[in-house]
Amino acid sequence: MNIYESARRSAAELAYPKQSIQIFESLNGRVLDVFQEIEAWDGWRLMHDPATPRETILAVIREIYRSVCWYQPHTTEAAFHMIGRLPKAEVRLMQALAAHKAEEAEHGLWAREDMAKLGENDLAVSSPATFAVSAVWWRIAFHEEPLGYLGAEYLYEQLTAIATRETLPLIEARDLPESELRFVIEHATEDAKHATFLKHHILDIVTRYPGSEIAMQRCLDYFRCVWPLPVWKEAVDRATESVR
Ligand SMILES: [Fe+2]
Ligand SMILES: [Fe+2]
Repeated sequence: MNIYESARRSAAELAYPKQSIQIFESLNGRVLDVFQEIEAWDGWRLMHDPATPRETILAVIREIYRSVCWYQPHTTEAAFHMIGRLPKAEVRLMQALAAHKAEEAEHGLWAREDMAKLGENDLAVSSPATFAVSAVWWRIAFHEEPLGYLGAEYLYEQLTAIATRETLPLIEARDLPESELRFVIEHATEDAKHATFLKHHILDIVTRYPGSEIAMQRCLDYFRCVWPLPVWKEAVDRATESVR
């Protein structure tokens, strides 16, 4: 049984206090709010408009991959710093979160491979919004309460799970090439599992550490200020410029 299966079983088997479930639902509601903002955004509508050329859609995805390559190594390294600052008796929590983040470490490479298949390799200079993502994660890592990590990571996983799942019908409808979209397709299933894994840990931690949700909410909110919309807006700007 891997760490995601055991988390799912535990979440189903354990009865968390009602208050903990409400706290989790409030965090989850913040993520759903972010996805509503995305659905209302011109760039999301552009991607899903049947009149948008396939070339433009693929250029946007390629530029989102480039963004991932710019920030993801830094958020990974910052996360390990946050995990290292967790309460030192939390051995199993550290092991589980470190195992999850270690698996995530190579996902920037998936983005890089897919970007190369779409004809791009240049990662010379980070964009402003992706630089800001790295900065926010390191600021959280150095200065926030370490349990706050779970809030930022939940936004990361749950939002990616929703956005990639909602992109699968577009891939089929526009007959987009699956070999260039491994990052998107695999995240639709992987991040649903990761979001469930984090849900279990959030429920567990807010139950055992009353008040820890305040730092989780703060870290989620810091992160949503810089991701994903500011990053994706830049990606659409670069993409539309490149196909003009
Ligand atoms: Fe990932
Ligand atoms: Fe993930």
